[in-house]
Amino acid sequence: MLEYLIIAISGFWLTLPAMAANPMAVLFGGGQPVDFGKSLKSGTRILGDGKTWRGLAGGTASGTLLGFILIVIGSFGGYDGFGQLPRAFLIVFALSFGSLLGDMLGSFIKRRLDRKRGAKTPFLDQYDFLIGAYAMVIIVDWNWFYSHFISGNAFLALATVLVVTPLLHRGMNILGYKMGKKKEPW
Ligand code: CTP
Ligand code: MG
Repeated sequence: MLEYLIIAISGFWLTLPAMAANPMAVLFGGGQPVDFGKSLKSGTRILGDGKTWRGLAGGTASGTLLGFILIVIGSFGGYDGFGQLPRAFLIVFALSFGSLLGDMLGSFIKRRLDRKRGAKTPFLDQYDFLIGAYAMVIIVDWNWFYSHFISGNAFLALATVLVVTPLLHRGMNILGYKMGKKKEPW
């Protein structure tokens, strides 16, 4: 039981940069959209006004900074889940940047489905950032992902994150909505 708890907590710890990047993009967002306001031939926006350069840059920087702080805290406690610097830095960057790329891919798909900015889209809303973050970190360092989220009991870390993420996502978005930072509570 205790062993499981430790695995589950490490799963969150190692996913935290990805989880932080999105809400930070909400705080930093605004200004020029990533798609520069352009639409595809179909007439619908490539990504929409909800994906901005400021959000992308601010979210990536904040997630990476948080990751760096986690690396430092971990090193004081003798835990090196992100590995050693400078490689660990690359991992937290990949998690943060990948998270926002996944979020943009989610918006791209939503626009192709003709869903307006902010329209509720189950699964994509909850998982696009996680898929992007894990895909990016797998590209950057497959061995790291394999040893912390797949091999042996580590798959319990992945399973727990996948089950709990929609709940956290919902909670965070209600908070963002109440703070007036998000137009919808999802
Ligand atoms: N945001 C941003 N840049 C990003 C991601 C988010 O500026 N790369 C900001 C936008 O202000 C956005 C808000 O964070 O409206 C909420 O993000 P999200 O829910 O992902 O976007 P939506 O507005 O719901 O748009 P979409 O339908 O495309 O998901
Ligand atoms: Mg949304």
